[in-house]
Amino acid sequence: MLVPIPGNLAIFAVLKTPAIHISSLILTQFKNYAYQSFSFEEGFNLLYGNNGSGKTNVLDAIHYLALGKSHFLPQDKLAIQHGKDFFRISGRFVNEQENMELVLKFQPGTKRLEKDEKPYVRMVDHIGTIGLVMIAPDDLELIDGLSLARRKFIDLTLSQSNKIYLHHLSTYKRLLEQRNAWLKLSSAADVAYLQALDEKMEEPSKALYQLRKNFIAEFIPYFDKYYHTISGGHESVGIQFQSDLHDHGLLDLLEKSRTQDLYTRFTTKGNHKDDLLFLKDQEPMKYIASQGQKKTFLVSLFLAQSDYLSNVMPSPPIILLDDLFDKLDETRIRHLLHTMNHLPSKQVIMTDTGKQRLGTVLQQLDSPCHFLAVRDGQVSPT
Ligand SMILES: Nc1ncnc2c1ncn2[C@@H]1O[C@H](COP(=O)(O)OP(=O)(O)O)[C@@H](O)[C@H]1O
Ligand SMILES: [Mg+2]
Repeated sequence: MLVPIPGNLAIFAVLKTPAIHISSLILTQFKNYAYQSFSFEEGFNLLYGNNGSGKTNVLDAIHYLALGKSHFLPQDKLAIQHGKDFFRISGRFVNEQENMELVLKFQPGTKRLEKDEKPYVRMVDHIGTIGLVMIAPDDLELIDGLSLARRKFIDLTLSQSNKIYLHHLSTYKRLLEQRNAWLKLSSAADVAYLQALDEKMEEPSKALYQLRKNFIAEFIPYFDKYYHTISGGHESVGIQFQSDLHDHGLLDLLEKSRTQDLYTRFTTKGNHKDDLLFLKDQEPMKYIASQGQKKTFLVSLFLAQSDYLSNVMPSPPIILLDDLFDKLDETRIRHLLHTMNHLPSKQVIMTDTGKQRLGTVLQQLDSPCHFLAVRDGQVSPT
């Protein structure tokens, strides 16, 4: 929650509330779960079971409740259990002051999210209520893949913590879609229409550029701290913000690229092309880093994201770790869990194929852990 500081309406402070955690979850016809309830505790929670048993699906359900969408699926209908016609996810989120129930129900054509039985008019109004950080195996895309993954990282962090950003982002995306649709269909160049759209895009573009630039400057020290702690060394790594907007305003850019846009039939320049360049020893990480170094880099990004969100959101985020500990040796696991134990976040929900590996380390760290055994769409506490 943002509250004005008395005497200076231009400055806002984040009103802090105690860390919120998920205490229970009920899945109905969601992926491989016909009907199943789960209970979680503060601290570490480990979902363990064989491949394909349904561990990641539980994390994705929590992702749905916090952010209104799947971390993995491009379409909600793919999450409906095969042969059924809707899915429902309900979860209880609690802290010393609050006890809220979130329910998300989807059937083709309707998606509805309710907080304490009151439906949201727009899904975006919910973003930021429950902070979430998720690390999944496909996140290597952040380093090796296209710029889309890196913009998503920025968008997800800023959207959760800044309503103004979310507003400008949706406006920019909507206008960009209109512009691209027009570029695709138009046979003759109605420059007046394009110009009108371009002018509308200028304000959200300016705001997005400034907010992203400020965010990256603020984020880098968080990242550096975690990278150096985890790697334990003095490797030189860096993050650079790349944007067409560094040297030109959007109107200028769009005007210069108009001929090209009409030819390629999409908008070739703008904030939707922003990127992050990850460097190691001044060279792109993507080409020169080892798998282990990339993993360290990724984990540092997410730990920094969770620390950053804890500072700028009312309550620290819930952390979801999907198969993060796969292929890591015991020393690294201990180091990572130890670092997580010291984050402001109060709840970590993680998956692994067995109970042993993480259980042993958590015992040594003296951290409580709640274990849930998952088997073929069924769960039992152990
Ligand atoms: N829409 C769906 N309907 C039924 N089962 C599904 C659906 N989507 C995924 N599954 C099943 O979920 C299982 C995978 O679950 P997942 O959570 O990824 O497993 P784990 O993380 O434990 O390896 C697979 O058996 C897959 O077939
Ligand atoms: Mg999985």
